[in-house]
Amino acid sequence: MPVTCVVGLQWGDEAKGKIVDLLTAEHEIVVRYQGGANAGHTVVREGKAYKLSLMPSGVFRPDVRCVIAAGVVLNPASLLEEIETLRGHGVRVADNLLISDRAHVIFPWHFEEDRLLDRQCGAEAIGTTMRGIGPCYRDKVGRALAVRVGDMYRADFRERIERIVRAKGEVFAALAAEVTLDAEKIYEEYRGYAERLAPHVADTTAFLLDAVEAERKILFEGAQGALLDIDHGTFPYVTSSNSSGVGAPAGSGVPGRYVEKVIGIIKAYNTRVGGGPFPTEQDNDIGERIRRRGNEYGTVTKRPRRCGWFDAVAARYTARLSGADALALMLLDVLSGLPELKICTAYELDGHRTRDFPAHVDDLRRVEPVYETLPGWSEEIGEATSFDALPDTARRYVARIGQLLGSPVEIVSVGPDRKQTIFDKQ
Ligand code: IMP
Repeated sequence: MPVTCVVGLQWGDEAKGKIVDLLTAEHEIVVRYQGGANAGHTVVREGKAYKLSLMPSGVFRPDVRCVIAAGVVLNPASLLEEIETLRGHGVRVADNLLISDRAHVIFPWHFEEDRLLDRQCGAEAIGTTMRGIGPCYRDKVGRALAVRVGDMYRADFRERIERIVRAKGEVFAALAAEVTLDAEKIYEEYRGYAERLAPHVADTTAFLLDAVEAERKILFEGAQGALLDIDHGTFPYVTSSNSSGVGAPAGSGVPGRYVEKVIGIIKAYNTRVGGGPFPTEQDNDIGERIRRRGNEYGTVTKRPRRCGWFDAVAARYTARLSGADALALMLLDVLSGLPELKICTAYELDGHRTRDFPAHVDDLRRVEPVYETLPGWSEEIGEATSFDALPDTARRYVARIGQLLGSPVEIVSVGPDRKQTIFDKQ
């Protein structure tokens, strides 16, 4: 399969890193195309868990080219730290990493703006990861105060920083925010980052277009999940990029017609971090049990994740939106021991039953989930290596999800290790 896209179909944290890591064996290039250091991917290798944020999950295979494409917002300090940590573990990061000269750069003012907006919004706060993601994308769209990776190597970089610091300073002063920005210090700091990142900076758009024309095997690695998509997610409780499948062409520069397979990643239940409606949330013992068993705490922010039953209305919407033609069902083992399991198959809204996902958060807050109850299983399933080895009830649960979403479940994960993955089709 020359060009494959892996995309989370829920609110992020679907354990995409594990699947991407497994699929990299069949690909030559792995591409991050949106988001930034708000993402947290965990890849478990030989019993050791690696937390990746900006780095594409293909980095563990030295023959794979990892690309941070134009649609990503880059925090240079965070990427450099990741590179150093990986190198410390003997992972090679050299010409196998390419960073787009078109990607936008996150600066200290973006962190301040993230904090300020969160405070101003009070109870309505989005609950961002505070990584400056939204403010950086805002500057990208606003254009005048944006800095792209390539700008850090231009002769006017210092003046650009000075000009932006002046403009931002005026805004902070008008908001009576106590923020001091030192243009010279920021310039020196970022000049240092630019120097260290220079060997990796490239025109990744041209690189990827050449690669697809040469029919090289490419894997697009989505960050966050499709329900957090800026255009199609649970707006405004979303991230600032296209985190559904539609983001891959825009963020990478590779036309959508080249993407031959989209693998939608879903957890066997739902989780969410930050604010926003979550119809199947279980703010009770069941949610707590899933959180503990699934270790549902943020990779990046360590926040406890909100947990609930599998929402097939939401996942069907994002599976269709992302063009998912196969599904990977993750963390099935977390549900072991629950006597019965619920799947939300429809919403009731104002006396009407619907399978469509509402556009407005107020409506999503008001929906009543319609549940189907399935029997659970008591066995531990971490050792299962085929569908046949799963308990009958687990197989039924998996099959029902595939049926409701209209895509086959081709991969089932029953534990964090690479070996705990079932690949055979139903
Ligand atoms: P931001 O991306 O930091 O602006 O945060 C916006 C929303 O997206 C918040 O609810 C975050 O918790 C959520 N979010 C951002 N990145 C991730 C992720 O990688 N996994 C899960 N949620 C995320």
